[in-house]
Formats: sequence, structure tokens, C-alpha cells
Amino acid sequence: MHTIIARSLHSLKRNLNNVKVRKKIGLVPTMGCLHEGHLALIKKSKNLNYFTVVTIFVNPLQFNNKSDLKKYPLQEKKDIETLKKNYVDLVFIPKTQQIYPSDFSTYLKEINHSNILCGKYRANHFSGVLTVVFKLFILIQPDYAFFGKKDFQQLFLIKKMVKDLNLEIKIISVNTVRDSNGLALSSRNKLLNTKNQKIASMIYTIFKKIEVKNFTKTRDLILYLRKELKINGLVNIEYLELRKSSNLEKVKTFKKGQGLRVFIAVYLGGIRLIDNFKIN
Ligand code: PAJ
Repeated sequence: MHTIIARSLHSLKRNLNNVKVRKKIGLVPTMGCLHEGHLALIKKSKNLNYFTVVTIFVNPLQFNNKSDLKKYPLQEKKDIETLKKNYVDLVFIPKTQQIYPSDFSTYLKEINHSNILCGKYRANHFSGVLTVVFKLFILIQPDYAFFGKKDFQQLFLIKKMVKDLNLEIKIISVNTVRDSNGLALSSRNKLLNTKNQKIASMIYTIFKKIEVKNFTKTRDLILYLRKELKINGLVNIEYLELRKSSNLEKVKTFKKGQGLRVFIAVYLGGIRLIDNFKIN
């Protein structure tokens, strides 16, 4: 089977007709500039033998900052080659006008967990994410959709949307893929110079240290992390928080087995990096 490239809603629809009766559809939404993190999602869908649809769309609605959108790396030709090599069945690369015609005016919004962590600092970011993902769900009607734990709050909100709106789609989460130094792969890493890449990889090294410490108070844990991050040149921290994986609530004290995660967003050389780490 060759890889179909659809660049319009019409071509997408035409190519998806009949697929449903033959195979389950697995959807992997992306903004392109693909790396091994994206490929982990794609390989999972392919291994499960789903008709695998990858979308490449840099969604303007989820960028609160115009220069961040402008800077976002693009490499469509290389991405298509990568997707072909991985036997992706269909690639959907729509133009902005098709997703958001000039009279577009309907948005999705989650109101309980969207104003914390990334949502606190990026106004309307998650409304933009949910709106585009919902549209992709409607257009492609997948049975399964794959999302990475690297963007844990995003994954959480998409699962919530599926539940709240009774969508018949199963969300499959995939562990964060890291480079050999522990840096979580991200399209934005390309924008870091070599020195800052090294510094960025300290995030994981420092998070790993928590495993051998016996913290029971959130305050102590966060103070320790801030100190370690500072020593290693990570000072421009947007947020650093401990929250429950199940509901994203904060805790003041904790013990093992509570399913807690540390969440971080940090600026390095003007580039915003996020990561999260399961601590128990
Ligand atoms: P993007 O950043 O391109 O990521 C696409 C998918 O790949 C997301 O589910 C993300 O969590 C996952 N991913 C990215 N880096 C990863 C890594 N190192 N390990 C595992 N998975 C990783 O997230 C988006 O695009 C957009 O918000 C999108 C969902 C496409 C909506 O526009």
C-alpha cells in the first residue's frame, strides 16, 4: 500500500470512504516537523494494524503568541518521506482556510482544568487544541486516536472532551520519547543551540534524582528542584508544580502510590520547553 496524501477536505473524504468497512482507523494528529516522539505514536497505530491517518497542521488557534507561530519549524517534504517510510496509510495536510474559513466562529472550551499549568500562561491555548482535535475527529472519524504523555495536560483534556461529549473514540496514550541524554523530544528542540540542548537535558537528570529522595512535602520537593535547576542554568521557570495524574489537582503532602507528577515549563534561549515526570 502506498501513502495517500490528501490536501483538501474533498480528497480526505473521497479517500476515507470505504476504509471503515475494511479496517479500524487510527489517527495521529501532529503539527509536523516529525521526530521519534511522533513516530512512537504512528508505530503504535501501525502495529495494531489500524488504517493509520497522520495529520500535519500547524494550528494557528492554539498559538497565543504570533512570533511563536511564525518560528514554528516546518519541514513538510522531509515529513512526507518519513511517513512514507513508516507505511502511514493517509496523510492529511489541510490549508488553514479549509479548517478555519474566514467566517469560522464556533469554539470548544473546557472550563475546569484549562486555566492551570500551560493554560494559565497561554490564554485560549487549550480551546484551540480541543477545537482542532474535535474537527479532526469529525472529519476523519477514527476508532482510535494517539496522543503523547509529553503533553500531559493536553492528553488529559482530550480524554475529558471525549468523555464529556460522548465521542466514540478510544484515546491511546504513549510514553514520552527522550534522547540519550533524557531530553524529551520536541519539534522546538531544533531551535536550541548545542549548549542549551545540554542544559535542557538536565531537566530529566534532576527529575530522576527525586526517585531516591524521600520527600513527603510538596514544598520541600519543589524547593529542591528549583535549587537543582538553578545550579544547572535553568532559571527562567514558568511553572513547576506537583499534581495528581488522575485529576490534575495539587497536593500539599504525599506518600507513595498516589499517582503524582511533576510538571514544568521553562524558557531557555527564548524557547519554551515543557516536560512532566511521574514520581510515584
Ligand atoms: P505536536 O506537538 O506535533 O505533537 C503531536 C503528538 O505527538 C502529541 O500527541 C504529542 O504529545 C506527541 N509527542 C510530541 N513529542 C513527543 C515525545 N517526545 N514523546 C511522545 N509523544 C510526543 O501536540 C500537538 O502537536 C498539537 O497540539 C495537536 C494535538 C496536533 C493539535 O494541534
